[in-house]
Amino acid sequence: MHHFQSLKVNKVIKETNDSVHISLEIPESLRHEFQFQQGQYLNVRFDMNGEDLRRSYSIVNAPSEGNSELEILVKRMENGVVSSFLNQKLKEGDYIEVLAPQGHFYTNFHPSNQKTYVGLAAGSGISPVLSNLKEALYQEPKSIAFLFFSNKRTQDIIFKKQIDELVHRFEGRLKVVYLLSREKHEENDLFEGRISNDKIDALLNCFTEIPVTEATYFICGPSEMIKKSSEFLKKEKKVPSLQVLYEYYAAPDDEENAEKSEEFKKIPNIESFVTLIIDDDEYSIHLNSKKESILDKALKENLPVPFACKGGVCCTCKAQVMEGEVFMEKNFALTEEEVERGLVLTCQCHPTTNVVMLSYDV
Ligand code: FES
Repeated sequence: MHHFQSLKVNKVIKETNDSVHISLEIPESLRHEFQFQQGQYLNVRFDMNGEDLRRSYSIVNAPSEGNSELEILVKRMENGVVSSFLNQKLKEGDYIEVLAPQGHFYTNFHPSNQKTYVGLAAGSGISPVLSNLKEALYQEPKSIAFLFFSNKRTQDIIFKKQIDELVHRFEGRLKVVYLLSREKHEENDLFEGRISNDKIDALLNCFTEIPVTEATYFICGPSEMIKKSSEFLKKEKKVPSLQVLYEYYAAPDDEENAEKSEEFKKIPNIESFVTLIIDDDEYSIHLNSKKESILDKALKENLPVPFACKGGVCCTCKAQVMEGEVFMEKNFALTEEEVERGLVLTCQCHPTTNVVMLSYDV
């Protein structure tokens, strides 16, 4: 199902100087469609002066907190048309066009587990990390969690009140360290600065109750921080890959502006006939393998294809290859296992056979 639904804005709360916390009402009739997992995100659509703008925002709340509302945090971005609108103009009672929750930045919790979870978050990256840690604490009474959360100054700490309440509520099971990059800490400079590999190392050495190779890590923040810290945990700290979960909001800087890869240059220059299955309907497009992506061509032809970031990050445009072969330029969203199963991000796909069939109904 790729239909946008109109959801009513229940609350708009100014969280910090440049972010708002928005609650959307999920009516009884849509509760099934909008069931969610901790750490998933919502795609929202806006028509701004005739332009179809899409954005993805992580869900902040946890499934155990109920299913009548979905909460998101929107940080105002410099020159961000949508984020500025949501921060400055959105009000209670307005309606927003939203797709059902998506994403796989989560692990499955079980009440019998006795595990340790570590959240590494920076700025607005807190949303999906907090959702995961909350769900772990609600669902697994014997598990404990740590949150290392970096912001610029005390007044910039997103959800500080809520996090402090959780520390109180889950006394002894949730430890939080607020790292501040532009404020001095009176007692310990370990709590100053950003999340870097050295900082993670120092924190893990300080909190000796964290079983480093057995813990599960949730990481979200700037792309470079995600890339470096996830590699550090896997390569230097020997944490198994399945225990290092992360969610990109944007492609890493070096990838975003990268030239076409050598692999892309090697794909055959062919004309291809591509069939797309979208909500049980079939559509056909013709395109050249070296020109625009399958998604871009489909959008040019006004087909109802799902998309948001167009950068290989959000996973909204994913489809299953049913016939033929494609080349995927970038992928920051699908797991290795999903790629092996034949899932692809159509915003990054170019056909490499004359006939291709993709299904968005996955
Ligand atoms: S539209 Fe976001 S990954 Fe393709």
